[in-house]
Amino acid sequence: MKKIVTTTLLLASFFAFSQSKTIDQKVDALLKQMTLEEKIGQLNQYNDDSKATGPITVDNDKASQIRNGQVGSLLNCLGTERTRSWQKLAMESRLKIPLLFGQDVIHGYKTTFPVPLGEAASWDLEAIQKAARIAAVEASASGIHWTFAPMVDIARDPRWGRVMEGAGEDPYLGSLIAKARVIGFQGEKLGGIDAVMACVKHFAAYGAAVGGRDYNSVDMSERMLWEIYLPPFKAALDAGAATFMNSFNDLNGIPATGNKYLQRDILKGKWGFKGFVVSDWGSIGEMQNHGYAKDGKEAAYLAITAGSDMDMESRCYKNNLEALLKEKRIDIQLVDDAVKRILRKKFELGLFDDPYRFCNPEREKAALNNPEHTKAAREIGAKSIVLLKNDSNVLPLSKDTKTIAFIGPLVKEYKQNMGFWDVDLPGVDYEKLVVSQWDGLQNKVGKNTKLLYAKGCEIEGDNKDGFAEAVKIASQADVVIMSIGEKRDMSGEAKSRSNIHVPGVQEELVKAIQATGKPVVVLINTGRPLIFNYTADNVPAILYTWWLGTEAGNSIADVLFGDVNPGGKLPMTFPREVGQIPIYYNHFNTGRPAKNDTDLNYTSAYIDLSISPKFPFGFGLSYTTFQYSDLKLSKKKMKNNETIEVTANITNTGKYGGEEVVQLYLRDKFGSVVRPIKELKGFEKIKLNVGETKTVKFVIDNQKLSFYNDKLEFKSEPGDFDVMIGSSSEDIRLKEDFELLN
Ligand code: GLC
Repeated sequence: MKKIVTTTLLLASFFAFSQSKTIDQKVDALLKQMTLEEKIGQLNQYNDDSKATGPITVDNDKASQIRNGQVGSLLNCLGTERTRSWQKLAMESRLKIPLLFGQDVIHGYKTTFPVPLGEAASWDLEAIQKAARIAAVEASASGIHWTFAPMVDIARDPRWGRVMEGAGEDPYLGSLIAKARVIGFQGEKLGGIDAVMACVKHFAAYGAAVGGRDYNSVDMSERMLWEIYLPPFKAALDAGAATFMNSFNDLNGIPATGNKYLQRDILKGKWGFKGFVVSDWGSIGEMQNHGYAKDGKEAAYLAITAGSDMDMESRCYKNNLEALLKEKRIDIQLVDDAVKRILRKKFELGLFDDPYRFCNPEREKAALNNPEHTKAAREIGAKSIVLLKNDSNVLPLSKDTKTIAFIGPLVKEYKQNMGFWDVDLPGVDYEKLVVSQWDGLQNKVGKNTKLLYAKGCEIEGDNKDGFAEAVKIASQADVVIMSIGEKRDMSGEAKSRSNIHVPGVQEELVKAIQATGKPVVVLINTGRPLIFNYTADNVPAILYTWWLGTEAGNSIADVLFGDVNPGGKLPMTFPREVGQIPIYYNHFNTGRPAKNDTDLNYTSAYIDLSISPKFPFGFGLSYTTFQYSDLKLSKKKMKNNETIEVTANITNTGKYGGEEVVQLYLRDKFGSVVRPIKELKGFEKIKLNVGETKTVKFVIDNQKLSFYNDKLEFKSEPGDFDVMIGSSSEDIRLKEDFELLN
């Protein structure tokens, strides 16, 4: 038997080698036939004429450029019909090199899932991967080869609108989610009819923009870059991500698009990345605004030498690479390398065998109307909801409640529930595609329950004319549900806010409703951590509902009425005030840590505000309670090459079955550089029936104890460590210590 297995493995690896060798041979053979203009054409990506996701340049000869082989890819081109029409033009070109169609399929194509930060709050890697898989099935059925996702930017500043697009503040959680999303998008392997290329973005450190202001500068130590911001990119690369996208920001004085250290030394060098890098929209040309390139030609020179392979929308490559070659400022090898990287992906996707393989209208129709996709969206929507408060167990509501008032500016909204970065499909009737929160409530309650509605106020503005009506219907109800928050386009790209309070007079409306004395449940809809201190301090029940996508109303109703017990945990720290930002859980201790909020005697604290967050990283309640016990370590001393097994028992001590994310935090007590007071190094999301106990197990190895020292060596150091098991980064239930020996 062993002999057969070995032979099979040998044949398989030979076939794989010969297969990949075949692709490389095909790429080399094609490259030899290409003119310089055709080579440069492959590095050129244009936006389709439909919707733009950046400042557009209009050119009227796109069709002839494609016919002449001067375009390698289009973005924002949707549907089998439209992509087929452009691909046909490419098939009229001399070498018939197919176009790549790229799209921001960030949290779903037609079936839309929670915004990624909301999805991250589920801490459910399987569900997150499944959502990306469904997005890929729908997108690939609609002519899309390539999604500009996952966005893996670590973000510690909720003023930055793009926090909605990532997985929050933690490198460990962010790395696992990045991997899940890449595998979801790319499926078993590229070339599958329902696989799309992932594009890991934005490389790198875009989330650390000064002031949380989008596109702003980033300046940080290399150690911080390697310790906090790079891990999710490496995790995505290790998961097989086909492409990367660079970022708009300058990093330590050098724009990412022209940053050789990032793209050549790290990505293509140390990490050995064989895919290709696409610039973010116009970022090559924007090096002129940065004051890093004096003109488009200089920008093209800096970008191609720094390892940017494809030029999204700036036209710097198209307009300047030939001159740079003629002037011998660059070698053709730079261009050939970029072209080969792109061609290799087109071969791997099977586009040379059949350029129209993703353009099957029947398949598109079936994929975009699959009830299994809808069901999955409803499930992960409910899993993404975080229960922030539930005093006197106002929740779950009874389906027999006689009268329910549903109040707020988001109750009857449809498209708002999609959040930012939905794929704006043409001709969609959002009242059919999206389950509003009002629809969800109607779908859930029995015919004996009377539903009352009032908008109360707008999302923005100071008009309170609707308060009286809202108070009136609240007074007639047994329980009041309120739905407040941002507009969906108040978080997202170029949506930084200097003030992240719930906008307008919505919290005043909450106060007016609260004054009726009725039990109130508040839903908060947004793509970022918001500040809502009045609501948090005065309302008995709060659900953070993010933007949950096409099944929003049903997901929310499932949780409101207990068909789903909420188990979400915050992937970002929630500040009390903007003045606390940046605030994150894995901070250093400083030389003068404050013991508590009153310890202000020469300590690192504010004299006017607590330094603790409003809601900590990893926080989320349940309708039930969980008891943590019996923390055990397999040993108290470990050598570098050993491991420690950590076990603990978790018991459901409440009245509802539910899921709990059991979190493992470690603290390296002393180091050659200061170390965070705690770091997430493991978690397990477990389901427990009432009264049930499960043992969770974590394995501590040298990798979990290692960090980048001041020489940028990734290694552990002997010494004392704390092991903490908790229900959040601040709700530590069990603690032990151990020693790492030399
Ligand atoms: C945008 C975004 C990027 C997106 C690209 C194409 O400016 O920064 O994330 O993928 O352009 O839409």
